[in-house]
Amino acid sequence: MPTQWNDVPEPLRCDIDIVADPGLAEDPQGCMLAWLEAESRPMAFTPHNGGHWIIFSHSLAHKVLCDARAFGSFPIGVPPNFQQRPRLIPLESGPEEHRRYRRLLLPVFQPTVVQKMERAVRETAIRVLDEALTVDALDFLADVAKPIPTRVFAEQMGLEVDMLPQFYAWEQGFYRAPTVEERAACGQKISEHLQGVVARHQEQQSGDDIVHLLLAAEVEGEKLTPEEVHGIAYLLFLAGIDTVASMLSLTVLQFARNPGQYSGFHQNPESIGGSVDELLRLNAFISLNRICEADIELDGLQLKAGDNVVIPSALTSRDPNTFPVPDLFNTGRSRTELNQHHAFGAGAHKCIGLHLAKLEVRVVLEEFCRRVERVSLSPGKTIVGHGGTTMGLDTLPIEIVRAS
Ligand code: HEM
Repeated sequence: MPTQWNDVPEPLRCDIDIVADPGLAEDPQGCMLAWLEAESRPMAFTPHNGGHWIIFSHSLAHKVLCDARAFGSFPIGVPPNFQQRPRLIPLESGPEEHRRYRRLLLPVFQPTVVQKMERAVRETAIRVLDEALTVDALDFLADVAKPIPTRVFAEQMGLEVDMLPQFYAWEQGFYRAPTVEERAACGQKISEHLQGVVARHQEQQSGDDIVHLLLAAEVEGEKLTPEEVHGIAYLLFLAGIDTVASMLSLTVLQFARNPGQYSGFHQNPESIGGSVDELLRLNAFISLNRICEADIELDGLQLKAGDNVVIPSALTSRDPNTFPVPDLFNTGRSRTELNQHHAFGAGAHKCIGLHLAKLEVRVVLEEFCRRVERVSLSPGKTIVGHGGTTMGLDTLPIEIVRAS
């Protein structure tokens, strides 16, 4: 039986609710960082969300993420839903199966393939920004951060661009609908739609979008079945849009709160490229989770089979033992330091879309900084955010001064 609250000794207990702490709605990042501020322990156990361990230490989190045999990735979620079917491919697959999926998927997401997408990403970014930045006050999330990755994703996957409003609505509903049933219904609609997309791609035989590439992918005579391509397309939909939008909006919030820093980027938008990893470290937002496959000792503590171990990347990416002066935006950190944030996770499941994600973030921010001289939070309006496995913003009301 997994660890129960009553079994946890007092010094290991904490009261963190990563899903519903009221502070998450007002300032999700600030709320999470306040938890870290109050902590000196490498890990603790909270009774909220089914009861789970929560890791604050970067090195301990790294150890867990890099041991996929002892710490499984099914089911992903806080609280974990052990009944969930079908599994998310490749994230929720076991080590053997996962290796096969990664071998087949890597060619589609490797840097040389992603580089070729830059022009299309920039065209989309320019089109959306030029329309959104005609006014002095806007919701950066709804007007910029969501539409760009959704359109990029639809074009890359060969989805119908005229269905973009429907995709926003499903995607928004999957992550933010008030009830579990509504969220599940949106997931079902996305899944059914993608099933049709894969079937159509099979009939068309050839093309250069990601669904075609996945159907054609072959490594040492092995191919993905259409069902597997459907499963992968579903995870890509859920992993590839909201994440980029969250990252963009948290970064622009950082800019709005730090006008001096933003001014440097406005004067030299090309410097964004060298700052992306540091921006990702400071704005990491996914709380990853792993399930203990068997009873195991971790950092001198006894964990039980079935225990949910949660790794908030927002916290482990600011561990002062790994990142000196962790709250300081410092692009002068060593390469090793810059590369080891947990925004994309670590180990076998480290984000396969990270080159595309970094490209999108760099290009959108370059074009934004070029066009906007000053950005600030709209006076009298508040940001609205949420917690959960993907902490983030629901609105980001900003005012801008356009560059002349
Ligand atoms: C800034 C944007 C992004 C962030 C912060 C991000 C973050 C992450 C993280 C933390 C994981 C690891 C999850 C875990 O180990 O439990 C992950 C996995 C994954 N991501 Fe991303 N991601 C981003 C964008 C993307 C994009 C654009 C795509 C593809 C279109 C993508 C596809 C995936 C896939 C397929 C996995 C599962 C990999 C595996 O299990 O081997 N992600 N991502």
